[in-house]
Amino acid sequence: MKIVSVVGARPQFIKLEPVCRAIGAVQASGGAIEHVIVHTGQHYDLRMNDVFWDELKLPHVDHHLGVGSGRHGEQTAKMLERIEPVLMNATPDGVLVFGDTNSTLAAALAASKLHIPVAHVEAGLRSFDRRMPEEINRVITDQLSDLLFTPTATGSENLRAEGIPSSRIRQTGDVMWDILKRNLPRIAQRKAVLERFGLADASYALATIHRAANTDDPRRLRVIFDGLAKIHREFPVVVPLHPRTRNALDTLGILRRARDAMLVVEPQGYLDMLALERSARLIVTDSGGVQKEAFLLGVPCVTLREHTEWTETVNAGWNRLVPPLSARVIVEASMEMANRKPEPDTGHSCEVFGDGNAAAHIIEALIEIEAGSLDGGMDG
Ligand code: UD1
Ligand code: UDP
Repeated sequence: MKIVSVVGARPQFIKLEPVCRAIGAVQASGGAIEHVIVHTGQHYDLRMNDVFWDELKLPHVDHHLGVGSGRHGEQTAKMLERIEPVLMNATPDGVLVFGDTNSTLAAALAASKLHIPVAHVEAGLRSFDRRMPEEINRVITDQLSDLLFTPTATGSENLRAEGIPSSRIRQTGDVMWDILKRNLPRIAQRKAVLERFGLADASYALATIHRAANTDDPRRLRVIFDGLAKIHREFPVVVPLHPRTRNALDTLGILRRARDAMLVVEPQGYLDMLALERSARLIVTDSGGVQKEAFLLGVPCVTLREHTEWTETVNAGWNRLVPPLSARVIVEASMEMANRKPEPDTGHSCEVFGDGNAAAHIIEALIEIEAGSLDGGMDG
């Protein structure tokens, strides 16, 4: 069986790792799977790209498409144009796409028009907010996918509610839980990053912001950074700054002020980021992956959005949605969450994200279906 995986953005490099590991395990026991890796080039900075390939020891990229940044139409169009010939030459049995970025959408669209079966890792997530580019990417990718690997029961329900046949849906659990779970012992030992930033255990907030709704709206961006500056007066706030947010702050002329008002640092590698998350007293974020990791690590989280796809984390009481419309409200919610008494067993079960072997279940499903032909098994 020949599988092409298409990735391009930071969270996809992380999601790819457990899949490579699961494929490696099958190959080591004599299974015949060829894995071809395509990188669209959506993320390219050393700290948004290279560090993950090195640290996670990902296999070499077979095809780097060098697309880079651009407006949505421009970026997606370049990806489509460049993915198509790669798939035509490779003639794989299936294409694996991950998450909800423009790279996900472009790969799903290119493959489905070539009649190559598409399998979507992290299918079924919905914020029900079509103003989010990621929501559009998810809805279309799920519609185009032949096989939908959901991380949670909510993901499966969302797909069924959209009329996707149950036969196409496999609730495998979340590959991000796989990789986090496996690295728990390593991150518990990883103290150098805290020392580097002068942070003591459970004494600081970790914040990440990059969602378009927050970075592209000057009022919201100001409110967020005002709120973070106020929290920093109570306890340190460390902000690994996404390049999109750095550029937006710079354009607004408030990058310098932000740097003076809190601990703004470069984007972190995966293990350092997890170590920072694990030891934080509070996480403030608009990232999908980071709010989920906060839950999995048992750290209270404030999510600066109106909606979340990861409703389980909110229902369990570990994540609070705070639309960033007022700095005062952000500070109040953050203080409340930061001062929560630790109740690690209350409403906190990582099992909602699977058994930590999602990637193995994904590869098993591909093998099983290939035995009956990936195409033929997909008609629902
Ligand atoms: C993308 C995804 C988002 C995901 C995020 C993960 C889409 C529509 N969005 O958002 O779902 O949560 O990745 O981090 O696919 N830039 C750099 N260097 C880089 C990459 C980006 O400077 O290596 C800057 C560029 O100015 C670029 C901007 O960041 O225009 C935005 O990058 P882009 O990949 O378009 O979207 P993200 O905001 O990163
Ligand atoms: N992450 C990281 N370094 C950072 C910020 C995030 O390694 O400086 C990791 C984070 O731990 C999580 C993933 O990147 O595993 C989330 O990606 P991101 O927030 O970019 O995108 P999203 O999940 O919102 O799509």
